[in-house]
Amino acid sequence: MSAFSFRDGVLFAEDVAVPEITDAVGSPVYIYASAEMVSRYHAFHDALKGLDSTVFYAVKANPNLGVIATFAAEGAGADVVSVGEMKRALAAGVSADKIVFAGVGKTREELADAIDAGILQINVESEWELTALSEVAASKGAVADVAFRVNPDVDPKTHAKITTGKKENKFGVPIERAPALFEQAKALAGINARSLSVHIGSQLGSLPPFRAAYTRLRDMALELRTAGFVVDHLDLGGGLGVVYWDDDPEPSLTEYAAIVRETVGDLDCRLGFEPGRWMVADAGILVTRVIHDKPGKGRRFVVIDGAMNDLIRPTLYEAWQKIEPVVATNDPIHEDPADIVGPICESGDYLGKGRALPVMEEGSLLAIRSAGAYGAAMSSTYNSRLLVPEVLVKGDSYAVVRPRQTYEELLGLDRIPDWVARQGD
Ligand code: LLP
Repeated sequence: MSAFSFRDGVLFAEDVAVPEITDAVGSPVYIYASAEMVSRYHAFHDALKGLDSTVFYAVKANPNLGVIATFAAEGAGADVVSVGEMKRALAAGVSADKIVFAGVGKTREELADAIDAGILQINVESEWELTALSEVAASKGAVADVAFRVNPDVDPKTHAKITTGKKENKFGVPIERAPALFEQAKALAGINARSLSVHIGSQLGSLPPFRAAYTRLRDMALELRTAGFVVDHLDLGGGLGVVYWDDDPEPSLTEYAAIVRETVGDLDCRLGFEPGRWMVADAGILVTRVIHDKPGKGRRFVVIDGAMNDLIRPTLYEAWQKIEPVVATNDPIHEDPADIVGPICESGDYLGKGRALPVMEEGSLLAIRSAGAYGAAMSSTYNSRLLVPEVLVKGDSYAVVRPRQTYEELLGLDRIPDWVARQGD
């Protein structure tokens, strides 16, 4: 069963009609289909059958506790990049020994929190971090299990802003420095280094960059072993892309798994994977309501109640996401393609450009597809817009897993200092 499908011209999320949710919860609203998440987790895990592998769901893609808990219930671990994400993973039921902590700028406080929580592994990204972690761990009489995140200088052939594995990117240490890091680690208290990690980018539409990166990782693991170091765990990162545009190439999970087997499958290592987008993108939609269809000069603007603060991917990465009416109509497509724009005071506030749509009536619903990853996760309250609610569907039932923020909550975050005179005082 597909996560979202039309029944008699109405979009359903699993077995729930989308308008039923918007009637109850309002719009905009993120809707997630849990069956799609569960089946993707198992598909990923099963593709790697025979290997000693763990799937650490990359929480950054969608950090809602209901989403993380859905994966945790199936046995997934979590890849986190901040203490906030670590706390979310723990609160959602991921056990500490299934959490890996990556990130280029962990503070000493964050490293201490990770050690206190007893997580599985900290992915160290610099010589400074190694020394800091050693000091923090030793001061607690603890030993931190460490992977070195290496930068293999491989072009993942994706958008520049989500490329992480080239030498000009801030991530990891140049792979040639791994032996020196292992040597340094040997002399440091509180460090148990037996692992390498790599993540070259996100939304990879083709697989050869994975092969290149994993081959470099393999070569380095063998070099380290020859030098007498133990390397018995490899973390292969995330990055597998999804299809946003029907003409996008679809990277095959089976071929990805074959590349894993061919490159590192015989190293007798425990393997970790950190997929984010692939697990949740297609399991989510953002549903918005049309405010009005505004004719322009040689173009038209469908103004909706969703905006760049709710889904920033089109603005930030020029990302294309499919937009379609929730209730299909037989109305003819308007001769002017439509820009789907939000109410925010910036021309960059659009969710789609040049789309073929009929005239959109006030109040009609539009669904933005593939919005389960990096949608709500990257939302903000810019223009003092309320954070959008999130709904998780399972079969014919649904739960609000994050209610719509209220204006009291939004304004309650701020304080006015005593010294400011108030009008009317
Ligand atoms: N592991 C590490 C160390 C990462 O930095 C990332 C993503 C992942 C795993 C998960 O990658 P995925 O499987 O989701 O591709 N906001 C951007 C994507 C940023 C990805 C950042 N790192 C977007 O909306 O396209």
